[in-house]
Amino acid sequence: MSKSLISIKDFSKEEILHVLDIAKEFEQNREQNFLSGKVIACLFFEPSTRTRLSFEAAINRLGARVIGFPDNRNTSQTKGETFEDTIRIVSGYADMIVMRHPTEGTAELASKISPLPIINAGDGSNQHPTQTLLDMYSILKTQGSLDHLKINMVGDLKYGRTVHSLTEAMSDFHPNFVFTSPDELKMPQKYLDELTARGISYQEAKAIEEHLDDSDILYMTRVQQERFTDMAEYEKVKDTYVLSADMLGNVKKNMKILHPLPRVNEISTDVDKTPYAYYFQQAQNGMYVRMAVISYLMGMR
Ligand code: CP
Repeated sequence: MSKSLISIKDFSKEEILHVLDIAKEFEQNREQNFLSGKVIACLFFEPSTRTRLSFEAAINRLGARVIGFPDNRNTSQTKGETFEDTIRIVSGYADMIVMRHPTEGTAELASKISPLPIINAGDGSNQHPTQTLLDMYSILKTQGSLDHLKINMVGDLKYGRTVHSLTEAMSDFHPNFVFTSPDELKMPQKYLDELTARGISYQEAKAIEEHLDDSDILYMTRVQQERFTDMAEYEKVKDTYVLSADMLGNVKKNMKILHPLPRVNEISTDVDKTPYAYYFQQAQNGMYVRMAVISYLMGMR
């Protein structure tokens, strides 16, 4: 039975640390070729820049080849083919499937249909486990440790799948979490209940200034317009937080600003030149981490 990565909980703490170790090795030498002869399908049913292109770059740097689509408008789903049949067909062509889909649970469904390893590249508001691994790699690189950090997540904590996976994964490292959001976009209760059950401390806040100066990681997020059914609700909350350089005068020296990107208005461009901005390096780290995840799930590392 092949191993898939559907939720970050599919990896133990030891497996996460192992993948981060391999990523470091690949960052030092990114030209690897040991997946020569393999074919990996990248099926993106929802838009992406970073995730799709960093997966494709990772596959190429490992010596494998890519098939797939960046959206499903040119697939036979437009003629009525089901998602299930699409997965069955691709399973006959490839050695692994990377997939993103707007509907929660579809990566898990694919893993039940296909004998191939499946990597969830984002399913609705649910999970984005490879983003979490690259976030953790970025935290480790910038802080020197994953342990005992104050991690302040800001923005759309309701629909933002990256904060859900990251909260679960960082819970193994004695964090002090702050969840900063408007009432409409709070961290879902099920994640808070998990923290309580594990005895992990967290605070909820409304104003970004409340915990800005003692955070180690400021994890900014975009309000996920595509998940709203009522655009008036989106308009009400879309610009709740706008981080600008003049707000960073008293932050900790080691503090880094992460963002899964794309950003809209939540980080002003004047922040980009500050020593706290790390989101572009974070996106580049994604390629090394995805090389590591693919290698591990293929049984090559
Ligand atoms: N972070 C992230 O998932 O970006 P994309 O939507 O561009 O893949």
